[in-house]
Amino acid sequence: MSTKVLSVALVGLEAAQVEVEAGITSALTAFTIVGLPDTAVQEARERVRLAIKSSDLNFPTTKTTVNLAPADVKKEGPKYDLPVALSVLLAHEELKPAAGLGPNFFGRFLFLGELALDGRLRPVSGVLPAALFAAARGLEGMFVPEQNAAEAAIIKKIKVYPVRDLRELVEHIQCNEQIEPAPPTEVERERGQIEVDMAYIAGQEHAKRALEIAAAGHHNVLMHGPPGSGKTLMAKATAGLLPRPSLDEMIDVTRIYSVAGLLPPGVPLITERPYRAPHHSASSAALVGGGTAVKPGEITLAHRGVLFLDELVEFHRDVLESLREPLENGAITISRAAGSLRFPAKFMLIAACNPCPCGYLGDREKQCVCMPGAVAKYRKKLSGPIQDRIDLHVEVPRLKFDKLTSEAVAEPSETIRARIEKAREIQRARFAERGYAVNAEMPVQDIKKFCAVDAQTQDVLRNAVDRLHLSARAYHRVLKLSRTIADLAGAERIEQNHVAEAINYRPKSD
Ligand SMILES: Nc1ncnc2c1ncn2[C@@H]1O[C@H](COP(=O)(O)OP(=O)(O)OP(=O)(O)O)[C@@H](O)[C@H]1O
Ligand SMILES: [Mg+2]
Repeated sequence: MSTKVLSVALVGLEAAQVEVEAGITSALTAFTIVGLPDTAVQEARERVRLAIKSSDLNFPTTKTTVNLAPADVKKEGPKYDLPVALSVLLAHEELKPAAGLGPNFFGRFLFLGELALDGRLRPVSGVLPAALFAAARGLEGMFVPEQNAAEAAIIKKIKVYPVRDLRELVEHIQCNEQIEPAPPTEVERERGQIEVDMAYIAGQEHAKRALEIAAAGHHNVLMHGPPGSGKTLMAKATAGLLPRPSLDEMIDVTRIYSVAGLLPPGVPLITERPYRAPHHSASSAALVGGGTAVKPGEITLAHRGVLFLDELVEFHRDVLESLREPLENGAITISRAAGSLRFPAKFMLIAACNPCPCGYLGDREKQCVCMPGAVAKYRKKLSGPIQDRIDLHVEVPRLKFDKLTSEAVAEPSETIRARIEKAREIQRARFAERGYAVNAEMPVQDIKKFCAVDAQTQDVLRNAVDRLHLSARAYHRVLKLSRTIADLAGAERIEQNHVAEAINYRPKSD
C-alpha cells in the first residue's frame, strides 16, 4: 500500500502541488529520493532517518524509495523533510491514520517542514504561497512548523496546525493526542514609527509637493540637486507618506518576502509598504532578480512600495537599463534554460542624483568646476528611455541659510498623508472594477475614459508636446499625473492648472 502525502513546490512566487510517496522494494537497506530533488532535498534522507529514530519510531530496514511527483518540477529546500518522513512511516506501516481522522486524510492537508535530528520541526520559507494554494484548491488545511503557523493562518479559509515535532504529529494522526489549530492571525492596527518626518525638513516646498503627488498616485520621481540639499533625507521621509496597504496588498507583499526567506522571525505579515534602497554597486541580478536559483530582486522586494535609488547616475548603465521593462509593465520576466519566471514589480521609483560630477551645475552662487565633456558624460549615463519613464523631475536647490534656520515648522508627515489617503480613496473607488488601484497603473485604454480634458486644456497639452518634444509615453504620463493632481485637489475633472503643473515636472528640453 502506498499513501500520497501532499506538499508544494515553489515556481517563482506560486506554489504547485507535489505528491510524496514512498515504496518498499527489496530487503536491502537503502533510502533514495527521486523526482528532481536539489541537494537540500537529497540531504533530507539523513535528517529524516535520524528524526524518525529520535521520535521513538522505527526506520525501515528494507530498501525505500521516495518519489516526489511531478518529476518535472524542481523541488528545492528542506521543506520536504516532513512529507518524506510521513510517507516512509506510512509505507512500512509504522504509522496508520486512525479512523477518527476521516477518509483520505493525507489528501486533505498539506505538509511542510524541515526536521532537526532530534525530530523537532524547523521553520521553512514559502509558507504563505502554500497556504494560498491550499485555499485556492479547496484543501482543508495544512500542518506546518510551529514558527510558521501565524504566517499560514493569515489565510482564514484553511485550518492551520502548528507542529512542534514529528512525534506530536504522529500522536495526532493516531488520534492519541490532538493538535489544536492555530487561531487566525489578526492584522496589527498600529502603524510603525515614522523614521524621518517631513516636519524636520526645512524649505524645499517644491520637492515636497512633488513627493506628495508621487505618493498619491504611485508615480516615479527623480530629484536632482547639489550635495547636502536634502534629497536623501526627503526620499526617506516619503516612506512615512505612503498610505497603509490593504490586506490583499499585505498578503501580496508578504508572499514575496516569504519566498525570498526574508520574513523576520515573529512577523507573519508585512503590514507596511516596503522601502528598499539598494546601493549603487548592486548587480543587475540583485536589482531585478535572477541568479542560478532564481530569487526575486530588489524591484520585486519593493513591490507596492518604494524603490529608492540614491546616486542614480552611479549605478552601472546596464543595471539601470534592466529597469526599463519593470518600469513600464510593473513586472519582470526572467528567462532561464529551464523556463521563464515572472515576478511582480509595481514599485514607486524615487531616484536622486547631482546635476553634474562636482554637484553644482545650475547653482545660483557656487560655480560648477566640471569640464564640459565630463558633464555630458555624466548625463549620458541616464538614458532617454529611463528619463522618459520618470513622471516627476524635480530640482532640489541648495537651501538658503535663513530658510534652514527659520523657526517655522513645516507640515508634519501625518497631515500630508491624510491628503494622500483621500486621493487614494478616490482612485480606489474609480478603479474598483478594473483590477488596479492607482493612477500610475492606468492602462492606455483607460486614459481616454478617466483623463478627458476640455479643448483649452487640450491646447496646453499640444503646446507642451511640441515645445518639450514629448513622446507618446511622456504624454500619457503627463495625463496620469494630471489625474493625480486633480484627485489631490478633489476635482472631478482635470483642469488646466492641473495639466500645467504636471507638465512642469517634465525635464526641461535642452
Ligand atoms: N531641507 C533640509 N532641512 C533640514 N536639514 C537638511 C535639509 N537638507 C539637508 N539637511 C541636512 O543635511 C544632511 C544631508 O542631507 P542629504 O543627505 O539629504 O543631502 P543630499 O541632497 O542627499 O546630498 P548628496 O547629493 O550629497 O547625496 C541631512 O542629514 C540634514 O542634516
Ligand atoms: Mg544623498
